Amino acid sequence: MAQYKGKFITFEGSEGCGKSTQSRRLLEYLSARGIASRLVREPGGVAISEQIRTILLDKENTRMNRECETLLYMAARAQMVEETVLPALREGTILVCDRFLDSTLAYQGYGCGVDVSAICMMGDFAVRGLVPDLTFLLDLDTEEGLRRRGGERDRIELRSLEYHNRVRQGYLSIAQAEPQRVIVIDGRRTVEDIFAQICSRVDLLLAQDRSCS
Ligand code: TMP
Repeated sequence: MAQYKGKFITFEGSEGCGKSTQSRRLLEYLSARGIASRLVREPGGVAISEQIRTILLDKENTRMNRECETLLYMAARAQMVEETVLPALREGTILVCDRFLDSTLAYQGYGCGVDVSAICMMGDFAVRGLVPDLTFLLDLDTEEGLRRRGGERDRIELRSLEYHNRVRQGYLSIAQAEPQRVIVIDGRRTVEDIFAQICSRVDLLLAQDRSCS
């Protein structure tokens, strides 16, 4: 974002796509090069937002409606942005975020049928117009992703395959609408291949910045 010294890079994708592994690797890569960087996740990242995460993912909360769910994701995000993201970007840090607003568009908008324009409006309010400089969308077959994910499923993961397919298609629609920001990566490729592609895009982003200063 032009008004901040730092850069904001987000990772998105459906369950088990490998984004958490790649975001951790990117942080190691940046730190090893002496670049001030930080990794946070959504929902969560700061104490209040981690508490909201527990409510959101608790599979006992079967009565939670989609409006409540959407607002809770936004509430967690608003707190995290205020406490962590904006201060880091002002300082010139590279902030890497495992999920951001696109997740709400994909999961609650395309997945649950919440009005996408309402999500955009709420999102703007929650994040004060912040838009990632770069977003990596790791695209993977949903069945394969859920299989890779393994373990006990949370409230969202327990949803039907049809739901997860709508989320995946939603992500692809977002990427199609914003090809400059959202880079789609084939999640079937090896971890090393994916990481190499991510690093080259991040290097480009950082180099562009240096050439303008
Ligand atoms: P995680 O498994 O990547 O940590 O994300 C937690 C779950 O929350 C995952 O199933 C995706 C879901 N989610 C939404 O439904 N909407 C959102 O806005 C975010 C950030 C996550």
